[in-house]
Amino acid sequence: STGICTYDPGYTSTGSCSSTITYIDGKEGVLLYRGYNIEDLAEQGDFLDSAYLLLMNELPTAEQKATFEQEITMHTLVHEQLIHFYKGFKHDAHPMAIMTGVVGALSAFEPYAADIADPASRMRSCLRMISRMPTLAAIAYRTSRGYPIIYPRNDLDYASRFLHMMFAWPTQKYDVDPVLARALEKILILHMDHEQNASTSTVRTAGSSQANPFACIASGIAALWGPAHGGANEAVLRMLEDIGSKDRIPEALARAKDKKDPFRLMGFGHRVYKTFDPRAKVMRKVCHEVLEHLQIKDDALLDIAMELENVATHDPYFVQRGLYPNVDFYSGIVLRALGVPLDMFTVLFAVSRTCGWVAQWKEMAEEQQRTPKISRPRQMYTGYMLRPYVPLGDRY
Ligand code: SDX
Repeated sequence: STGICTYDPGYTSTGSCSSTITYIDGKEGVLLYRGYNIEDLAEQGDFLDSAYLLLMNELPTAEQKATFEQEITMHTLVHEQLIHFYKGFKHDAHPMAIMTGVVGALSAFEPYAADIADPASRMRSCLRMISRMPTLAAIAYRTSRGYPIIYPRNDLDYASRFLHMMFAWPTQKYDVDPVLARALEKILILHMDHEQNASTSTVRTAGSSQANPFACIASGIAALWGPAHGGANEAVLRMLEDIGSKDRIPEALARAKDKKDPFRLMGFGHRVYKTFDPRAKVMRKVCHEVLEHLQIKDDALLDIAMELENVATHDPYFVQRGLYPNVDFYSGIVLRALGVPLDMFTVLFAVSRTCGWVAQWKEMAEEQQRTPKISRPRQMYTGYMLRPYVPLGDRY
């Protein structure tokens, strides 16, 4: 027979974890990296501050920051043979498919990474991953368009270096706009970590088997790709384009409420936040700053987004369910204004989330050294219990 089976599998669930990295209060809309408020880190800090903080548990002193910057900057190149890997993808491969492949392939180029028991090797894997993600991401974009690869310039800061690799041309001068680089840096800080979300849990689960850390990050990229998770920023822009004008917002809201309709308000709702995602508030400000700096006056998609936010956050259906804009609601509009193509939005999210993934992987790996415990979440078995085998001739 079938039905809920409350058998005792003889082990306690090892799917959840304890962590000191990120704290979220979904009711109050609070997000802390190692105790520091995300708004302060994004508005007052820089990329290196937050990346160091997540990895090392403290904000860096000036000396620590200089050493950290050196480590991150001096390893931005990837093995030339890895660059040939990109040529093996179909010409129209989605950059997230490419990233899942090439980041996994890094495990074949960094032999030290497999020595997870060695603290120095663990740290090296974390630093190299942070260094190389922008390079790998920019190559994925450039090769998917048949553009020449732009090598990393180590005289630039992290965000500027990424914009340069994405948009420079070998045939002409390209100066990174510092206002846009700062906007991108804030976006990178906002997306770095978010405690045990789907992709981070995937990285921890893969890491608990003591797999190669680069292969674990590749599994996180695969999980992040989904439109219910990191793929939402791309899905928000497609949704705003589909809505097309403010007067079609009521129709969109009606569809979002209709349980028979699979349509959901992309960029709205969250597993944890039942109020405004604090990142969305900062992102909305960055959005206005960038559009103003670029003198983009009446951006149709921003107008629709603002009106959609205004109407939905006053609509009882969404308010009662705690459905408010999340980090992805405005990020797509900013990224589009920065010139980032739609299929690269989630790649950019992956570049940023790598800082959280490696910090969480490192914390898990250190815990594993103390008490090795593979991740093994419990299940609620609702299938058949034991029943007699049926020979083919007796099946009908
Ligand atoms: C990210 O986990 C993380 O931290 C993720 C992330 C990170 O930094 O790693 O924050 C990044 O993934 C942000 C979320 C991006 N995804 C989207 O914006 C896609 C649209 N959002 C939905 O798919 C949805 O809100 C989820 C997947 C994010 C959460 O879904 P849940 O857990 O089902 O939401 P819920 O339990 O709060 O839903 C409550 C109700 C349900 O209806 P009822 O059964 O109560 O009638 O709200 C409904 C849901 O059906 N609902 C929505 C909705 N989201 C939930 N209705 C319409 N539109 C939506 N977007």
